Amino acid sequence: METKKFCPFSEEEIKAVLKARMNEHRFEHSLNVAERAAFLAEKYGADIEKAAFAGLIHDICKGIPKEEQLSVIEKEGISLDEDTLKSPALWHSIAGAIYSEHELGVTDKDVLNAIRYHTSGRGNMSILEKVVYMADLTSAERNYPDAQYTRDLTDYSLDEGIAYGVRWIAGDLEKRGFPKGKDTEALLEEYKNVEITFEKG
Ligand SMILES: [Fe+2]
Ligand SMILES: [Fe+2]
Repeated sequence: METKKFCPFSEEEIKAVLKARMNEHRFEHSLNVAERAAFLAEKYGADIEKAAFAGLIHDICKGIPKEEQLSVIEKEGISLDEDTLKSPALWHSIAGAIYSEHELGVTDKDVLNAIRYHTSGRGNMSILEKVVYMADLTSAERNYPDAQYTRDLTDYSLDEGIAYGVRWIAGDLEKRGFPKGKDTEALLEEYKNVEITFEKG
């Protein structure tokens, strides 16, 4: 992977940083998301190298304690809205984009946004953002009940995959008593008329 197109570090150096910051399972997940993002990028017309790179580093802040994630965000002078403060699962994405920019020297805005919005999604996502969002939900090791269907659906249609994925996430957040937040709400709204035509096998 040509990581030096996007930051001063080689692939080996980036992988060493990842390994130092996360457990083996999450490292494997990162490799799988990179691979899956590259595949979806090729299929749906996003930049393949950017997708692989963003996929590789998307969870770079997920393995650090939640308080540290929050402090990365606060040090950046970002004040989170109430819903995001109530949703610790979103913090690593925001912190990850900040860390990638400042510590890894990533300047590409689309890559940074793909990291920033990989958990919440948002309205009007770029193709790269969409690809990384769905690569994260459908990476090879994912084994939640609908994982294979979601994978096949995303291979059939990126938009149907997103519609299905965001509805599932919204339902899950509701069940667990977490707010959806404005970005996930915006994505749900944008995709509300997308019909799922791909049948379960
Ligand atoms: Fe994540
Ligand atoms: Fe992830």
